[in-house]
Amino acid sequence: MKTILSIQSMQRVLSKQSSLKIGLVPTMGALHEGHLSLMRVAKRECDIVVVSIFVNPLQFGESADLKRYPRDLTADRKMAQAEGVDFLFVPKATEIVPQDLETKVSVDKVAKRWEGAMRPGHFQGVATIVAKLFLIVKPAVAYFGQKDYQQTVVVRKMTNDLNFNLKLRILPTVRESNGLAKSSRNQFLSEKERASSAVLYRALQYAKQAVQKGERECAFLKKQIESMLTSESAVHLDYIAFCHKDTLEPVLQVTRKIVLLIAVRVGKVRLIDNIILDGKC
Ligand code: PAJ
Repeated sequence: MKTILSIQSMQRVLSKQSSLKIGLVPTMGALHEGHLSLMRVAKRECDIVVVSIFVNPLQFGESADLKRYPRDLTADRKMAQAEGVDFLFVPKATEIVPQDLETKVSVDKVAKRWEGAMRPGHFQGVATIVAKLFLIVKPAVAYFGQKDYQQTVVVRKMTNDLNFNLKLRILPTVRESNGLAKSSRNQFLSEKERASSAVLYRALQYAKQAVQKGERECAFLKKQIESMLTSESAVHLDYIAFCHKDTLEPVLQVTRKIVLLIAVRVGKVRLIDNIILDGKC
């Protein structure tokens, strides 16, 4: 595995491989099983796997959150190498986001709801960086996790709107044994908070089972979930949203495939999770 530190050398190296199928896994590092699961599928499906590690300042609201974002390049390198990654692309912030950067990629409606409303500017930061990575690496396939559901919707919209010639693969959420979705930020949870956070997964599972048993009313499901979540005193609710799986507009009934998005805060950590609910089965 080669570690590449500049945009120019990444472009130079990849231009020599233009006949091969390139898979890109964009990350912010502090790699865990969730990231590795994406690399594994990329390895299976592509000739060359590029993993980018870039803690993207444009997508962080508070500078405190950016500063404390976990970074461990040595550990990341080992993990990526063990997965058979070909290139680890670790560009410098000054190169990807120079001070005179004036061009940003802004996605409209799907980026303004839910996470977008809680974290203004967040998805513009994500879309800008992902567009840059697509242009630099020119992957045939780019891999993302369902864990960040709205991110996948925003990236899909941007990919279609800007005619990027690539395929998006969205892969399932990898979880801890208690159901908590793996996340680089989980390390900031105390043992007690970690245990409380499991309620998020229980709530998603409750919704799935209720829909399987025939429940269709989102208002009812929302009330039940809200009381499950608020029964844990450490958990503070940001939103529970039942939405159209592509537009993310709210829906009132589970009449087809929809997505349930939940966001909470536990201590200083924000947790998001989601599940697809299928009203047809
Ligand atoms: P990051 O949080 O590092 O996540 C990188 C990729 O790993 C994303 O596609 C994310 O959805 C996926 N991922 C994270 N946790 C996962 C889990 N438990 N199971 C499955 N996949 C998981 O998301 C970002 O970085 C950034 O916004 C980025 C796309 C790199 C743009 O800066």
